[in-house]
Parts: sequence; structure tokens; C-alpha cells
Amino acid sequence: MNIRKLRSDFPALQKKWNGKFPIYFDNACMTLKPVQVRDAMDEYYNEYPVCGGRSIHKMAKKVDEKVGEAREKMQEFLGASSSDEVVFTRNTTEGLNLVANSLGFDKGDIVLTTDREHNSNLVPWQVQAKRRGIKHVVVHSNPDNTFDLDKFEETLCNNRNVRLVSMVHTANLDGYTIPAQEIIKLSHEHGALVMLDGAQSAPHKPIDVKALDVDFFALSVHKMVGPSGMGVLYGKQELLVELEPFIVGGDTVEDSTYEDAKFLPPPEKFEAGLQNYAGIIGSGAAVDYLADVGLPNIREHEEKLNRIITEGIKDMPGVKIIGPADPALRGGIVSFTVDMPHGDAHDIALVLDETENIEVRSGAFCVHSWFNYRKCDAAVRASLYLYNTEDEARKFIDVIGKTIGLFNP
Ligand code: ALA
Repeated sequence: MNIRKLRSDFPALQKKWNGKFPIYFDNACMTLKPVQVRDAMDEYYNEYPVCGGRSIHKMAKKVDEKVGEAREKMQEFLGASSSDEVVFTRNTTEGLNLVANSLGFDKGDIVLTTDREHNSNLVPWQVQAKRRGIKHVVVHSNPDNTFDLDKFEETLCNNRNVRLVSMVHTANLDGYTIPAQEIIKLSHEHGALVMLDGAQSAPHKPIDVKALDVDFFALSVHKMVGPSGMGVLYGKQELLVELEPFIVGGDTVEDSTYEDAKFLPPPEKFEAGLQNYAGIIGSGAAVDYLADVGLPNIREHEEKLNRIITEGIKDMPGVKIIGPADPALRGGIVSFTVDMPHGDAHDIALVLDETENIEVRSGAFCVHSWFNYRKCDAAVRASLYLYNTEDEARKFIDVIGKTIGLFNP
């Protein structure tokens, strides 16, 4: 990977704030965008900024062609069998909600999650529990935050009606990746479907939905150099056909009368109304970009930076890294709490930003349940990506040391 060359593709890295370049470590929230994505979107806005899926004029046909290409690129990126298995959404949250609302649950059906779910894979099940009488069961992790496969299997054996296992593939909390292959195999043996929240895995490691044999997989394209407000839900074709429609209306139906409507097959059935065509086309450019860089290279690069940061901060006073000790198990994420008499995680994040433009996230990262269960304070999270450098990692260590010193004179 030629990082210097890659960095020149990202205009946001070239802009100074208060005289300094940014050190962007908030990639788990949203990644920066390369010019290639912007150019693909500009082409849509400049040359054929019209609707797709409906009209038969030349510009509309061009939109259909480009949307079709983007869907095929996404199919290839995920290793899906057909581009019809790719549903464009606004984000991972929407994909997860689509399945939560549209899967045919019976009262008493169980949904299993981990204990470190983002609110997007927790709250939908709490809502469905109230609305449809499903039961949400949490599988707690080992003390070192790794997945407890034995407890998981025991839970499957003790609960006959587990209908769906819906789990975060790579956690935005600590970067830990669950053993998805084993989880999926066990779940299928017990007759349960599996959905993975791939928001933090798809941008950082190769995904092959067919090899995984996963039933549903949701991701956010804006976390993988793509346009803001774009996501994908992958679903096995036969399951997407069975799902009830979610948001309904224009372009989801083939025909309608005053009494009824005949739905189109997936993916159209789930893509109601005019779409974010620029975003879809930009998503195609984003996966092209990632394929050119190479997902295995990205994973290796992030692990290298994670190791540098982990080694640099783990013994600082009051610092406790969340998740497994080995950085290789935490991909591109270093989350940590700092036990100090004055100041908190937000103060640290503010000082990092104010002094050196180091942009991190602080708080509970939408995983409030995990923090509340442990009565744990907010944390600081550095989340890395392909354009971050070893120099940035070292600068981070230096500034973190000074910042902790500032609050603990
Ligand atoms: N899931 C995003 C994050 O963790 C919003 O920052």
C-alpha cells in the first residue's frame, strides 16, 4: 500500500484547520471520501440527474445502467450469488430494521444477540418484543470480551425457538470480530437464521457471504469511503422473497388496484420511492476503490497501527483498553477508558482536537447497554483506516500522554 499516494485521493486530509492538517481517527463513525467517489457522483449530477426505474428516456436509462452496475459491484464485493440479493438502504440501521420488521416472527420466537450490540441491533428487538411478543436474549461474552461459543451453543440447546441470531460481526465498541463461521454453522444446525451487522467488518476485511452462509448481512457504505447515507442489506434470495415489504410505495409494486397491490420481486420490493441514485453510483465507486487497495492490505495496515497505539498507551496511568489485550483481535479500533480524578473521556477528546486536530470519538458509541451493565464510564475511541499513518499513530500516543498529564498534574 502506497499510503502517501492514497492520501492524495482524500481532499479532507489536505485541508488545514487552525493551521494544521487533521489526524482523522473517527473512521468507525464515518470514513473520508476519495475523489473517485465524488467524481462518480458528480457525473450523475452533471450529466443525468434524473430518476431511475421508471421513465424510458435516455437519461433515465443511463441512471438504470449505472445503478445496475453499482449493484453488480456490490454483489461482487460481498460474494453474493446474484445482484438481486443486494438491497440499497440508507445505512446498516435501516437494513437491520428492515429484517426486524419484515421477518415473519411468531409470538415467543427468540432473537439472540451479543452483549455489545450497537443500538441499531438492540432497540429493534426491544420494539419487536413489545409489538410482536418476541423474546430478546443476550449471550454474554467471556471476561476478556471474546465470544463465548460454549455459552452460545448452550443457549441454542436450551431454547428451542431461536428464530434469528442477529449479531455484530465486528464490534464498534472494541473492534473484536466474533467467530461468525462457527456461529452460523451452529445456528443453522439448530434451525435459526443468522443476520450479521457488518458495519465495522465490511470496510476492513474481505467478506464472502456465500462462504459464510450468512442469511442477512447489513453494512454502511459511508463507513467504507462511500457516500454519506448509503447502506446495503444482503439477503439470500429465497429469504428476501419471503420477507414482507417494509417501506412501500412507488416502484415497489408491479400493479395496484383500489383494493390491493402486486409487489415486484426483490430488491425492488424494498427500494420504495425515488432513490439516492448519486449515492448508489458513488457506492459502486467506493467498492471499486477498496478492491483496488485490497481488503487484506487494509486489514494488515490497521493491525500494524493498532499494535503501535496499543503498545504506546496500555501502560499509561489509568488507561484500560476495552476488549481483548491482543491488538490483532481488535482490527482498527482502540477504545479505552481513563481512570483519572479530574476530567473525563470527552475532555480528552476535546483536548486532542483543540491541540492537534486529532479527531476521535468519545462516549458510549451507541453501545450504552454495555457501559450501563458494567457501570462503566464513557470511553475514548481511536478508529483507524487505510489512509492513517504510523506518524499519526505516534503523534496520538504523545498527545494522549500529555493530555492525561494535564488532567492529573
Ligand atoms: N456506529 C457509529 C460509531 O460507532 C456511529 O461511531
